[in-house]
Amino acid sequence: MSETYPHYIEFRHVYKTFDYPVLVDVNFHVDAGETVAIIGRSGVGKSVTLAHIMGFLKPDSGQVIVAHTDITHATEDELRRIRKKVTMVFQSGALFDSMTVEENILFSLELREDYNEANKDEIVDGLLDMVGLKAYKYSFPSDLSTGYKRAVAIARALAAEPECILYDEPTTMVDPIMSDDLANLMLRLKQELQLTSVVVTHDVDLMYRVADRVVVLYEGRVIYFGPVADLEKSDHPHIQEFIAKDEVW
Ligand SMILES: Nc1ncnc2c1ncn2[C@@H]1O[C@H](COP(=O)(O)OP(=O)(O)OP(=O)(O)O)[C@@H](O)[C@H]1O
Ligand SMILES: [Mg+2]
Repeated sequence: MSETYPHYIEFRHVYKTFDYPVLVDVNFHVDAGETVAIIGRSGVGKSVTLAHIMGFLKPDSGQVIVAHTDITHATEDELRRIRKKVTMVFQSGALFDSMTVEENILFSLELREDYNEANKDEIVDGLLDMVGLKAYKYSFPSDLSTGYKRAVAIARALAAEPECILYDEPTTMVDPIMSDDLANLMLRLKQELQLTSVVVTHDVDLMYRVADRVVVLYEGRVIYFGPVADLEKSDHPHIQEFIAKDEVW
């Protein structure tokens, strides 16, 4: 774990087989401060890719670099250190239903080593302000729409002061206006906090709005990795079909 790698996240020839080969020679990288989208049909291995970044899954072969560190053979202790820097916002939000929005955020804040009881209100207010949810401080998750729950989940993730956030389908089941708000929030976090992020999505609009680069997975392989702006130049029939449809995949 001592070597420092140039890219913040990098997959080098990653293979993973379950019932069938899910990831086949997957290569891509994410630089610090950059947003990379991962797109592809259902079952193509997008969530499996995120699980490798979190160290929940290990590749059958190849190398996974996260936070400039090779985590391929990392121990649980080493992974815990990485997970302080890299956090994931789950689709469900994974909020505690019996706790208010404030308590959900405090839960994450209290895990921080530099947690200070004295300025906790200020930090919670700052985080709620950042995600535009100050008015919902004392609400319970059940009172909030799916989109707002995702925003609370993002605020809770930010409480840990991560360097990098992984989003798994942040706009699924969210109405278009809230999707737009979430996209704005993701852009703001990138600009104001220089957060690195990886966004798994079926949402073409979101991809164009927030991503610098995109990884397209198809039948286990990366069929495109490059700037979003050049995606249309790919002559892969699958990508052409995707662009022609111009709709949620
Ligand atoms: N822990 C696991 N054990 C066995 N098979 C798994 C495991 N995790 C994922 N898979 C399989 O790997 C394949 C890819 O799953 P994954 O969840 O990454 O798809 P996805 O691209 O995220 O799809 P969706 O868009 O539907 O979320 C699926 O066939 C899934 O059943
Ligand atoms: Mg998935």
